[in-house]
Amino acid sequence: MNILLTGGLGFIGSHTAAVLTQGNHHVVLLDNLSNCQIGVLGSLEKIIGKRLDFIEGDVRDIPLVERLLSDHHIDVVIHFAGLKAVGDSNTDPINYYSNNVAGTISLIQAMQACGLGRMIFSSSATVYGDPVYLPYDEAHPTSPTNPYGRTKLQCEEILRDQVKANPSWSVACLRYFNPVGAHPSGLIGEDPFGVPNNLMPYVAQVASGKLERLSIFGDDYETQDGTGERDYIHVMDLAEGHASALDLVKVQNGFFAINLGSGLPISVLALVLAFEKVSGKKIPYAIAPRRAGDLPSYFAKPDMAKIVLHWQTQRSLIDMCSSMWNYQKISHGAD
Ligand code: WQD
Repeated sequence: MNILLTGGLGFIGSHTAAVLTQGNHHVVLLDNLSNCQIGVLGSLEKIIGKRLDFIEGDVRDIPLVERLLSDHHIDVVIHFAGLKAVGDSNTDPINYYSNNVAGTISLIQAMQACGLGRMIFSSSATVYGDPVYLPYDEAHPTSPTNPYGRTKLQCEEILRDQVKANPSWSVACLRYFNPVGAHPSGLIGEDPFGVPNNLMPYVAQVASGKLERLSIFGDDYETQDGTGERDYIHVMDLAEGHASALDLVKVQNGFFAINLGSGLPISVLALVLAFEKVSGKKIPYAIAPRRAGDLPSYFAKPDMAKIVLHWQTQRSLIDMCSSMWNYQKISHGAD
């Protein structure tokens, strides 16, 4: 199939592009380069061994998107483009509503104009908000506690209404838990601008010596070891989950919201220990105050993905850490 990946040079988008290309799909990448380096394109082409169709542009540019959809005879759109930092969304909400919500509306309008109605949407577990129960299943109440999570839920609701009004549409909203790790080649991986907000890239940069010490935000939670627990998922498992979702939206009309997680809660300390094991490096850390807005623990009930997508995670925490360490060594000069 011909697939348009908006945000295609981002962390999840680039890994999905690699998996889909190796699955003999033709991918077209659209990215405004606001949160990724153009160098990812060259790395991707090295991985797949051929040139890729990349267009620099913004998903809110409706005429541009319409041209891409028709020129490349796109069959399905995977919509990754969006901003994703919870903290930034609190300080700059309008930018998040413009990029994430207005961007999705523009994309739907362009698709509608081209008679295309098949989409996979990059959603997030942050739509659930404070846990009423755990693990989160797809029926869990959705009450996001930050603008980022609200943009993701609003996009889901807009897409649900679009499908209701247009029964020939097919939309799969994939609710990611915590994607981490890197491609086995070590040529692409999680590479945030500036000092990382998220745990895995921060730990990797402490291991490589780029950062001095990890601050663990609280060790007095009601969890296995007192530190925060998350459902980490290898980015390659996540990319393969998108390939499985393609098989769904290709043949089945309707609206679907599906968790993509492992179902296993992993603590900060457990991740640190695993990283020390794979890297052979000591990760110095200090206990710091809790981070505002952090939940003690959340993780997925992964059953629906198994049933509807015939997909489940395959890779372990050690695989996640070793792929990230390999990426630091191959692409960031760690030793
Ligand atoms: C994980 C754990 C922290 C950094 C993020 C995104 C969110 C969503 C999922 C897209 C927590 C602890 C972290 C550090 C620490 N992505 N931590 N020291 O908060 O679950 O959410 O991923 O949808 O948008 O924000 O991930 O990696 O920031 O934190 O102790 O320096 O690590 O307290 O327990 P989080 P995270």
